[in-house]
Amino acid sequence: MRRKLVAGNWKMNGSIAANALLLAEIKAEFGNAACDAAVCVPAPYLAQCQALLSDSAIALGAQDLSIHEAGAYTGEVSATMLLEFACRYVIVGHSERRAYFGETDELVAQKTARALRAGLVPIVCVGETLAQREAGQTDAIVGQQIDAVLSLIAENDLAKIVVAYEPVWAIGTGKTATPEMAQEVHAMLRKRLSAKNTQAATEVKILYGGSMKPENAKELLAMPDIDGGLIGGAALKAADFLSIICAA
Ligand code: G3H
Repeated sequence: MRRKLVAGNWKMNGSIAANALLLAEIKAEFGNAACDAAVCVPAPYLAQCQALLSDSAIALGAQDLSIHEAGAYTGEVSATMLLEFACRYVIVGHSERRAYFGETDELVAQKTARALRAGLVPIVCVGETLAQREAGQTDAIVGQQIDAVLSLIAENDLAKIVVAYEPVWAIGTGKTATPEMAQEVHAMLRKRLSAKNTQAATEVKILYGGSMKPENAKELLAMPDIDGGLIGGAALKAADFLSIICAA
C-alpha cells in the first residue's frame, strides 16, 4: 500500500509575510493527516520555510536544482545547498522549466540522478501538451520522458523517486484530466517503471498534477495508480490545500 503524498508547488509566488500566514494556517489544521505533505518553495524562502516547518510533519522541497556540485554557475542552486535547508524533495523537469528554460529529457535525467546522489527525493515531472494528446502521442511523449530518466538511474534507486504526471494542457487552466484519463497514463508509467525494477515499480508514488482542487481531488485520488497530487494554484490557499490533503 503506497502512502499518498500531496505536494504543493508554489512556483514563483509568495512573500515573507504571505508565506508565514499560509504555513501558519496549514500547520494549524494539518494535525494527524493520513498522507504525507510537502511544500516546494522558491529558493530564497527555503530558510524561512525551514524554520516555520521545524515543528511540523510537513516536508520542505525545492523547485529545481543544478546538475553541478559547486563552482562558477551563476544563478544555480546545488543539491548540497538544498540539503542545508533540510529539503527532502526537489521537483525536476516541471513542464514550465522544459518549455521556458529549454530543459531537455537528458538534462532532466541528469538532475534526477544528481538529486538521488545527494539523497534528495526527486519529483520527476512528465506530461504531454494538448497538441501531442490530440495527435495521439501521449504515451510516446510521456514514455520517452520517463525512459530518459530510467536510463540514467540505477535499478536500486528506482524506489527513491517520485513521478508526477502533469498534462501540460491541464496546468493552471482549470481543465483537469478525468480520473480515467489520468489513471491510463499512470498505469502506463508504472508499466515502464516495472521494466526497470518490478518490485520498486509497485512502491514508486505517481502523483497527478494539473488543476487538482478540492472539487476533483477525491475522484482522482481514488484511482489505483494515483498516489497523490502535485498542486499549483490550490497550494497557495490554505483551505484548498488542506482539503486536498483530507481527500488523500
Ligand atoms: O506543479 C504543479 C502543476 O503545475 C499544477 O499546477 O495546480 O495550478 O494546475 P495547477
